[in-house]
Amino acid sequence: MKLEFQLLAERPDAVLTVANWLHGEWGQEVEGSSPEKLAEGIVSRVSVDQFPMHVIAIQGNEIVGFGALKIRVMKIYEDREHWLGSLVVPGEHRGKGIGSALINEIVRRGRERGVSLLSLQTEELDGGLYSKLGWKPVEQVNYRGIEVLVMERLLRSNWVAGEVSLPSPHTTTRLSPPNSGHTGPYPAVPRRSEE
Ligand SMILES: CC(C)(COP(=O)(O)OP(=O)(O)OC[C@H]1O[C@@H](n2cnc3c(N)ncnc32)[C@H](O)[C@@H]1OP(=O)(O)O)[C@@H](O)C(=O)NCCC(=O)NCCS
Repeated sequence: MKLEFQLLAERPDAVLTVANWLHGEWGQEVEGSSPEKLAEGIVSRVSVDQFPMHVIAIQGNEIVGFGALKIRVMKIYEDREHWLGSLVVPGEHRGKGIGSALINEIVRRGRERGVSLLSLQTEELDGGLYSKLGWKPVEQVNYRGIEVLVMERLLRSNWVAGEVSLPSPHTTTRLSPPNSGHTGPYPAVPRRSEE
């Protein structure tokens, strides 16, 4: 069946479903978190033309996935503005390409809105699905007690014909050795313990 995409802002009826998924994946360890509170937070942020951009995948009449293009998710990377995050496909629909299609759709919509570089963090330290889709590893860091791989995808070249351009630090794909504590290509960025 055909997979379609819509902004969550256009489908307020889907907010609680999405909030339930997010709570199921990431909210349970957060004290005081509930799907209803998460839904309230989402409703206060959804927009048709501003970031964060919330995208849902739909098959027939069913909502089958969610992902977001967010602003400054990992505050330790002050120069990385746009992030892919909160990607979730409910268990019964996994492994059918919906997650990949959602990622590509968010990339497409981000590019359309002028985003030049997207970043993400994943606990899949080999890059999992994202590696397969062409995302490049940036570095592995311990963020809030969890080892994550930070990855990036260049959406728009910074190179302008006729101009001399130096490689952007964003295109760095150097990885620090696991658990070295080294901050990889961004040693000058002060690491903060909280956002
Ligand atoms: C990650 C997720 C969105 C993938 O959705 P999906 O519709 O199953 O994705 P696809 O069918 O396009 O691709 C499946 C691939 O994703 C990979 N994958 C599974 N969990 C993953 C994860 N947490 N991060 C990255 N890749 C993952 C699988 O290895 C699988 O690869 P394979 O086909 O070679 O076995 C889904 O598994 C999910 O909701 N997981 C729980 C929430 C989560 O971990 N989100 C990602 C946060 S970075």
